[in-house]
Amino acid sequence: MVSHSRSPCFYCEMIRKYETNYPARPGEFSVDDTVYRCAIHSQFQCSVCKKFHHFSWLYWCPNEKRLICGNCTSPVLLPLSFWNTTYTYSFHCRSCNDVHYDLFYSEFQGKHPWQLDKETYTQLIEGIKVNQLKWSPAAFREGEKITLEEALTIPNAVLPIRKKLGSVRFHSPLLSQSNIAQSEVRAQWEQTSKRWLDIVNNTSPEDKGDINRQLIIDPAMWKLIGEVQGLTVLDAGCGNGYFCRCLASKGAQVTGVDYSETFIQFCIDKEVDQQLGINYHCLSLESLSDFYDHQFDLIVSNIVFVDVLDYKQAFKEISRVLKPSGRFIMSNLHPAFARINNSFYRLPFDTPRNEERHYVMVDRYFDSGGTLVSWGSISPIWQFDRTLSEYSTALKEAGFLIREIVEPKPDNETIQNNPRLLAFDTDRIPFFIIYECVKSR
Ligand SMILES: C[S@@+](CC[C@H](N)C(=O)[O-])C[C@H]1O[C@@H](n2cnc3c(N)ncnc32)[C@H](O)[C@@H]1O
Ligand SMILES: [Zn+2]
Ligand SMILES: [Zn+2]
Ligand SMILES: [Zn+2]
Repeated sequence: MVSHSRSPCFYCEMIRKYETNYPARPGEFSVDDTVYRCAIHSQFQCSVCKKFHHFSWLYWCPNEKRLICGNCTSPVLLPLSFWNTTYTYSFHCRSCNDVHYDLFYSEFQGKHPWQLDKETYTQLIEGIKVNQLKWSPAAFREGEKITLEEALTIPNAVLPIRKKLGSVRFHSPLLSQSNIAQSEVRAQWEQTSKRWLDIVNNTSPEDKGDINRQLIIDPAMWKLIGEVQGLTVLDAGCGNGYFCRCLASKGAQVTGVDYSETFIQFCIDKEVDQQLGINYHCLSLESLSDFYDHQFDLIVSNIVFVDVLDYKQAFKEISRVLKPSGRFIMSNLHPAFARINNSFYRLPFDTPRNEERHYVMVDRYFDSGGTLVSWGSISPIWQFDRTLSEYSTALKEAGFLIREIVEPKPDNETIQNNPRLLAFDTDRIPFFIIYECVKSR
């Protein structure tokens, strides 16, 4: 048996730097053998989803007397300085309609349930014991072997795996492009598009795209695009068409293309309503058969190629329908920092706090191919990783010269006014890239 009872709690120690009288509790529990934590600063169970979460990802509703996690509500990042941090998560409570704060700030305020009354505290601690046993240092005998396969059959397997094997990361293997069928990739998008429309319509009623597009990508796109008055513009992979509508409102003659029938039908319905003079075509980018050679002055594509199976063929088609010397301006997920398998190294690993994300782990950069990826509650779609040079070579072979590469970053004012952006560390790492290409022949 290994006893770590003398290791101090990571968070108690941190708080003691700011409050010298704060107790130094022993770190009785560890999730990953790197950091030890006391019961107050460990994980608690959400009363809604029943999952255990880092204490800072939960709030206590004093009216309903229960804990609810950030996945079961919509947390908002609120700028606020205390201890080592500059923000708290605030939650609009669906149970009592009041606003509550995460347990970290609640503790600072003296409103953490264990500070409110002894009885609630005892109940909470009893309630978490079962889970904590699974990952307390005493729960694993030294020398005990556990295979990866065994570990994966255990519910909530990541905890015992990490306990046993240290901070390992599992990379989902990428399937080579030639083993993936276009029909499958397309069907996946078709299945996703209704849910995508619901989300975009709810989160961006002003028809400007999601927060990343509004605050990071699109300002940089528009800077490159410039004047569009009177230009014939193709939006390749238009999705719900918001970018087409922006282009049209700036005086362009716009055509939108997407291979999802649901998206195109949505766009057409909007067009019937708004009469912006936009044409929509349900086509795959690999075969733009409705268009003749050299038809467009400008082609744009906003975060699409990470979803395109045969990107080389799509570039060739885009080049074919673009006028000589015309520009193709394309944004995409960054090929180095926003790859499928990259993630922030966090310490502790379950933390939702920015200051505990230390760096992005990049590996297997040269692997290219696709895998099914789920974004939040959207059903899985195929996403493709390719290196920067694979993209640049394919663009060159399609007859493009890359004139400029932009790695968009929000300015300080944008970050300050949108604290939620901080949570995505968009000022630390470029998650997006924009290529401005000119058709050279
Ligand atoms: C991430 S969405 C972006 C949509 C839109 N540009 C936006 O910014 O909201 C990617 C879009 O590309 C479309 N798409 C992916 N692969 C495609 C292909 N090979 N041909 C046509 N459309 C494709 C999908 O249907 C989806 O609408
Ligand atoms: Zn502690
Ligand atoms: Zn929950
Ligand atoms: Zn409440």
